[in-house]
Amino acid sequence: MLKLRSSPALGSNLYKEALNSSGFQVTTYARPHDLLITRGQGSKLFDDLHNKSYVDFTAGIAVTSLGHSNEKVSQILCDQSKKLIHSSNLYYNAECLELSKKIVEKTKSLGGQHDCSKVFLCSTGTEANEAALKFAKKHGSLLGPKKHGIIAFENSFHGRTMGALSVTSNPKYRTPFGDLVPGTTFMNIHDELNVFSDFVKANKDTIAGLIVEPVQGEGGVFPVPTEKLAGLKKICSDNDVVVIHDEIQCGMGRTGKLWAHAYLPKEAHPDIFTSAKALGNGFPIAATMVNEKINNALKVGDHGTTYGGNPLGGAIGSYVMDTIGDEAFLQKVITKGQKFEERLQEIRARYPQHITDLRGRGLMIGLEFAEAPKDLISKCKDLGLLVITAGKSTVRFVPPLTISDSEIEEGLDIFEKAVNEVYT
Ligand SMILES: Cc1ncc(COP(=O)(O)O)c(C=O)c1O
Repeated sequence: MLKLRSSPALGSNLYKEALNSSGFQVTTYARPHDLLITRGQGSKLFDDLHNKSYVDFTAGIAVTSLGHSNEKVSQILCDQSKKLIHSSNLYYNAECLELSKKIVEKTKSLGGQHDCSKVFLCSTGTEANEAALKFAKKHGSLLGPKKHGIIAFENSFHGRTMGALSVTSNPKYRTPFGDLVPGTTFMNIHDELNVFSDFVKANKDTIAGLIVEPVQGEGGVFPVPTEKLAGLKKICSDNDVVVIHDEIQCGMGRTGKLWAHAYLPKEAHPDIFTSAKALGNGFPIAATMVNEKINNALKVGDHGTTYGGNPLGGAIGSYVMDTIGDEAFLQKVITKGQKFEERLQEIRARYPQHITDLRGRGLMIGLEFAEAPKDLISKCKDLGLLVITAGKSTVRFVPPLTISDSEIEEGLDIFEKAVNEVYT
């Protein structure tokens, strides 16, 4: 058992002062001023400054799927850091070769991209999407001089860098930043397939790719219907348009399959898909997977990264992939998801005027409220539960996939109490 270290923040005036002001960090986040996370264990987070503990239904925004301070992850981090942390992408390292092989093999054996062929390793979700967009554009450029446009969707979230932002629809994230990468067309995922078909056919010479989250996460937890994803893939394939699935939030077991696209028939699988968040259980590692058609379009020098594909991330990712990429583990995610949903349905039934919908898959669940549930989130925090929102008025439940039944109950008891207090 690894020894827990107490935080140097305990009782420190410096931290108290920082919490009272905005500290020394830029004001891009609205953080609560009465909460300082000092440590975590499994599905619990602790604030030793205020002597409080929290059930964590956020998992660091769908990241720590194997729980906080996972003993094995810490052990690997420790051991590998003494062996080799970084050696650059100029040379092979054993850990990343192993991780890439595991991703490809597990993807195929667990119903994901049937023609998965190669992996590009990097460090963040945004970066994985940047790679995916560039790969799609590179593929397009070999078919025609103007074929570099991208179709993206309203309500999407793909990241904050200029490329990823240019396919992220939310005006709040985009507007202040002026011109983004040109060539994006936003469509509505709820449109009939013939609307897509007409558009893609009419613009096949200028569209290189389409990017979609199989379950829209930040936008409000909206699973895209299987038939829609299958239809989009067919239209795109018929017109030489590359399909990218962004599985940064919904992948790595979150929906009860290794990848959300594993719910699709084989012919509907994407050409490229991306992963990050849970892949490193908190260590920054991300990946872009491609089939042979895409790999054939790439050549040395087309893309790169300094940190990505480092042995430390590779060693951690391998362990996470082994653990989550396991049928029995994934089955438990589905069972736990059902437990969540049953209880949330009961709560919803008691507050029909306030709670309007329940959506999701596995342990990626959204509870829709009639109005933005800001007070509820804050009440949950006061009572010892961390939950986050998505979209305009959705409470998002993305706990560690390893959460125990008793922790689910404990957290949902708090949630129910908070709903009672806010809406009664
Ligand atoms: C679907 C999706 N894509 C991309 C990203 C960006 O990932 P990162 O914050 O690791 O750059 C996120 C992050 O929330 C996401 O949910």
